[in-house]
Parts: sequence; C-alpha cells; structure tokens
Amino acid sequence: MKKLSLITALLFAPSLAQAFPWDHDMANQISIKPQESVDGKAGGMKSFPKRSVPAPGTSTYVKDTDAADKKPNPIAADEKSVAQGKHLFEIYCSACHGAGGKGDGLVGAKLVLTPYDLTADVTKARSDGFIWGYMTFGGAIMPSYANDLSATERWHVVNYVRKTLQSGAATAAAK
Ligand code: HEC
Repeated sequence: MKKLSLITALLFAPSLAQAFPWDHDMANQISIKPQESVDGKAGGMKSFPKRSVPAPGTSTYVKDTDAADKKPNPIAADEKSVAQGKHLFEIYCSACHGAGGKGDGLVGAKLVLTPYDLTADVTKARSDGFIWGYMTFGGAIMPSYANDLSATERWHVVNYVRKTLQSGAATAAAK
C-alpha cells in the first residue's frame, strides 16, 4: 500500500508530468519561429538585406567633429558619386547654401547667421572629413543631417562639394 501511494505521488509530480508527450508546449506549433527559416532546404536566418549593416570602410560611428576631421573619405569621387551628391545637395543643402554653394540660399538669408560660402578658400582648405562631420553633427545654426543622410550619402555630398562646387564647375550649371 505504501509502495502504491509513492508511485501515485511520483506520477503527479509536476516535473515528471512535463516529461510526458501529452504536455507539449502550446508554443510548439507549425508557425515560423524567430530566426527560423521559411525555406525548408536552407535552415537558419536569411542574410541581412543589402546595406542594412555598415560595410567596412563606411563605419558610421564617429565621436565628434575632431574625430570626423581625421576620417579619410572612403568613397571615390567618380561620376556616379558626384551625381548622387548633387541630387542630395539640392534637396538638403541648397535652401541655405544656395544651388552654387555660395551661402546665398533663400532660407539661409533669413537666418541670424548667414550660411557659409562653401566655395570660399576657408572651406576649400578643410578636410573631406570636416565637411562630412559638419553634416553629421551640424554647427551653431546648421542642423545635423545624420538622420536624413546616411554616412555614405554624406560622402557623396562631400564629393559633389569638392568636384563641382569648389572647382567652379557649378557656377555654369547652377540656376
Ligand atoms: C538651415 C540652413 C542650413 C542647411 C539646410 C545647411 N546648412 Fe550648412 N551651414 C549653415 C550655417 C548657418 C552655417 C554657418 C556655421 C554654423 O551654423 O555653425 C553652415 C556651415 C556649413 C559648413 C562649414 C563650412 C566651414 O568651412 O566652416 C559646411 C561644410 C556646411 N555648412 C555644409 C552643409 C551641407 C553639405 C549641407 C547639406 C547637407 C548643409 N550645410 C545644409 C546652414 C545650413
């Protein structure tokens, strides 16, 4: 009798009860679990979408403007990059700095501090990283563009400022 009650007690012990097949967890269904593949042949997670992870050479984190100043430009100033930079400059910068970058944009004229002429010798003498950093952190009046422009996009803008605006090629192109 004593033996039987011991068996019964063990049977209903929660730890033992869980071991039985009737206690399968509700979470274990045919639904797809986090990080599980939908493709039966290829297990595991899908690789990350293109450009969702910073690629080597375009790491996005810089501490401050001083650190940015020292950062080398990882994007070659080829035709494609300059064209993309032009497109972005017209959207994000020209309102203040003007289409030709001379600091004569319509919005800029209303500010307490006139946006700098990006074609001036002072800015010409700056490093690529400085200009990139100015977009990243903003200035006294100028807002930061780190949320609007990706790290790579900011380099495209730098390339446009250098190759077109500062070389004087834009004066002819700018309206
Ligand atoms: C809201 C107006 C505004 C917009 C938009 C703007 N800027 Fe500026 N920017 C300024 C003002 C004002 C200054 C003067 C310095 C300051 O504010 O710190 C300035 C200064 C700068 C400087 C410093 C130049 C130097 O040699 O010291 C750079 C570089 C610059 N801007 C680049 C850009 C680029 C590139 C964009 C587009 C992504 C841009 N700015 C968009 C207003 C603007």
